Amino acid sequence: MGSSRSIFFKLRVFEPRDLDSVIYINRTCLPENYPPDFFLMHHREHPEAFLVAELDGEVIGYSMSRVEHGFSNFRRVFAKKGHVISIAVLPRARRMGIATSLMTRTLEALRKYGASEVYLEVRVTNEPAINLYRKMNFEIVRRLVGYYVDGEDAWLMARQLW
Ligand code: ACO
Ligand code: ZN
Repeated sequence: MGSSRSIFFKLRVFEPRDLDSVIYINRTCLPENYPPDFFLMHHREHPEAFLVAELDGEVIGYSMSRVEHGFSNFRRVFAKKGHVISIAVLPRARRMGIATSLMTRTLEALRKYGASEVYLEVRVTNEPAINLYRKMNFEIVRRLVGYYVDGEDAWLMARQLW
């Protein structure tokens, strides 16, 4: 249970019955949309790292992540890396600390899955999200030129998990 400004919300792991809500939030909040199977695959593979937030019993936010093996963003070694695929909160529930809570619990889950670091991509113009990640101690690793299908660049942001 998280709270801020006297508003209470609840975090829990995604369940298949949340699929329609999560797809609705994803389409409402982000231009990067995915087929239903993409969400269900992440739920199957890393159930603890796919979270939803409820406000008054209604799902109003989610965070979906996975663990990958790849080259570290911090050291010259291969590492287990958490990858935050997508996070969003409906406009009416923003600025209450819900994304911060989703991210905090996501980082805990990724750590439990053995990840030593976590990364994500974010549009270079997405100030709210960039501020959120900076607050969570992510740093910019590099600019991914033309990362998005509309040609916009992304920041690759990452942080260590200890
Ligand atoms: N302007 C500036 N900074 C902001 C804003 C904003 N509108 N919104 C959040 N922040 C920053 C602030 O630093 C804030 O802390 P503060 O309120 O103490 O100042 C901090 O983020 C945490 O805010 P939360 O309340 O925890 O964030 P919220 O629940 O509102 O969700 C989110 C933030 C997820 C970015 C939301 O705005 C959203 O859904 N946006 C559209 C979808 C999106 O951009 N998702 C991220 C794409 S990248 C990816 O998915 C990997
Ligand atoms: Zn990504």
